[in-house]
Amino acid sequence: MKLLAIETSCDECSAAVLVDGELKAVATKTQQIHRAFGGVVPELAGRSHLELIDVLVDQALDAAAVAMHELELVAATVGPGLVGSLLVGANYARGLAQATGCGFRAIHHVEAHLWSAELTAGKLPLPFLVLLASGGHTLLVRISGLRRYDVLGSTLDDALGEAYDKVGKLVGLPFPAGADVDRLAARGNAVRHSLPQPLRDDSLNFSFSGLKTAFLRRMQEHASLIADDPADLLAAFQETALQSVMSKVRKAVPRTQPRALVLAGGVAANSRLRALMSELGTELAIPVHAPALRFCGDNAAMIGYLAWRLHTEGIKPDDEQFVRPRWPLTALPGG
Ligand code: KG4
Ligand code: ZN
Repeated sequence: MKLLAIETSCDECSAAVLVDGELKAVATKTQQIHRAFGGVVPELAGRSHLELIDVLVDQALDAAAVAMHELELVAATVGPGLVGSLLVGANYARGLAQATGCGFRAIHHVEAHLWSAELTAGKLPLPFLVLLASGGHTLLVRISGLRRYDVLGSTLDDALGEAYDKVGKLVGLPFPAGADVDRLAARGNAVRHSLPQPLRDDSLNFSFSGLKTAFLRRMQEHASLIADDPADLLAAFQETALQSVMSKVRKAVPRTQPRALVLAGGVAANSRLRALMSELGTELAIPVHAPALRFCGDNAAMIGYLAWRLHTEGIKPDDEQFVRPRWPLTALPGG
């Protein structure tokens, strides 16, 4: 089956072509326009998708050597995300499906992240435990099959990626700051500053806003030191945030008996998080999987992959979904 997938839920515009579930091409553009504003400006994101989408779809089809009239299915993210951005991708995809007479499948962005490691690892053994950490979401989910999701915990305030972006902004890094914080923290001394580990409780939830405030206080107390070189404080932030996350993953293991530990989302690209997860996997003798770096952040390959998985398992497309800016995972049909 020849399938085109489109992702425009936030500031990445992406198109991918898959043939029988195998990725043939993906073209992704991260909008740079938001850097100057220190965060994504929804109106600008929507307009920018309008300019990019045609070009990226053509690029993906050309690279895959698939013609538009050969397509059998078009899939697009319809939520959750920014309404203006979602509308561009979803309308484009629906229009294309109608014009070419092929099917359309509405995709849940977070659900696509949950399965994204399979793009790299192939089919994962069930059940598996996913830590999904991005700019908008931080979730711990037990997966026992398609549409069989048990959300064990989520963030009570900021998402993990958002916390990276906020502390990065405090020390003057451009948005999004996650990758820069990762790089600087790697050469910092994480024990020079002590920051409080959040939410040391029995739940599987997360919290990062208190840590961000502690980071700010520490910055104010040691202003000149940190302005000269923020690496140590960033390393302390990263270590505290990730140890907190890992303590929750560790707690979830005996409760869920997973056959694999899986990372997903933009923060899954973090080198320290990948290392900590693989150490835990080795210690507990559970295989660890993470998507290749280009499939961690938002991309249409994961949208197409999920569309194909849903199609082959006979899960009916949900034609009623137009766009859903707010769409909890628990509201997905089936399962
Ligand atoms: O999945 P994604 O592209 O978009 C959302 O759905 O939110 O994730 C983007 C987030 C940003 O907050 C970015 O700073 C973070 O992922 N990120 C990282 C790294 N690379 C991207 N955070 C920590 N370390 C990284 N290497
Ligand atoms: Zn995402």
